[in-house]
Amino acid sequence: MSSHPYARPRRMRRDEFSRRLMRETVLTTNDLILPVFVHGHDGREPVASMPGVERLSIDELLRAAEQACELRVPALALFPVTAPEAKSLDAAAAFDDEGLCQRAVRALKSRFPQLGVITDVALDPYTRHGQDGLLDDSGYVMNDETVEVLVKQALSHARAGADVVAPSDMMDGRIGQIRSALELEGHVHTRILAYSAKYASAFYGPFRDAVGSAAALGKADKQTYQMDPANSDEAMQEVALDLEEGADMVMVKPGLPYLDIVRRVKDSFGVPTFVYQVSGEYAMLKAAAMNGWLDERACVLEALTSIRRAGADGILTYHALDAARWLREAA
Ligand code: PBG
Repeated sequence: MSSHPYARPRRMRRDEFSRRLMRETVLTTNDLILPVFVHGHDGREPVASMPGVERLSIDELLRAAEQACELRVPALALFPVTAPEAKSLDAAAAFDDEGLCQRAVRALKSRFPQLGVITDVALDPYTRHGQDGLLDDSGYVMNDETVEVLVKQALSHARAGADVVAPSDMMDGRIGQIRSALELEGHVHTRILAYSAKYASAFYGPFRDAVGSAAALGKADKQTYQMDPANSDEAMQEVALDLEEGADMVMVKPGLPYLDIVRRVKDSFGVPTFVYQVSGEYAMLKAAAMNGWLDERACVLEALTSIRRAGADGILTYHALDAARWLREAA
């Protein structure tokens, strides 16, 4: 027998105790953010392409928030479903202080002040065409005109009491404009979670069904503002700009197909980095689990742990409440 290095990585894997000791990444309920769809009707309404996810009235939202608090999930992210008659070309409903999102924020903050509330800053739920901004005559999403509306929307969310505003629109310069407007109005504690590296992904399909922007959008896409899935350096530039402009946290979206981007962002900037495990990722796991093809609990926890391992500090995931329950059972 030739000389042997005596390296046997399997020694450390042999027993539960040494596997536990060498484990690098630990997923906890502190890492989870629950996205919630809120509608203006009563009760709950299922989202067909996202089994287990429902659109909630404000009353039902409070019930979900209670569960989140009970499970120690730190924060919710709100996504309003706008009634078709409230949609317009100028997206005015987005900055209505009495709008659905604003009312939902106030209801949440008065009942559960300790629960973090994150709002989505983008115009797609409010525009008749389903794009995230205002269009010029050629149908191009105008940048600076859109940013003006986003600023009004973010201010209206902050006034309602949102802890975190999360611009998901991908316009240029919006973080800086929103940050100065917040400071000027005295909202110095409002955090900005920038969707910095948001890709023009086909994995958002079920979300667009859930908020009703799919029909409005039709065959159009968002490639003139969301990023090309083929790019990585561009994500670094977007993150650098958002941080320079005053973002407190940055996000990569979607999750699993973009873990290389998460790792680059975390290594290069070392700032609080979040990942959105998006609707299509949820739908894939759920569909396979419902067919008995995958073990839902094991696969969801593996996917979330992998996102953490890649460098995410926190994850927006539709599995948040289930995952929090599974983690509690395992503790
Ligand atoms: C809206 C927005 C989208 C998502 C979050 N905010 C959709 C889009 O950009 O078309 C997608 C989330 C998901 O798929 O779960 N700007």
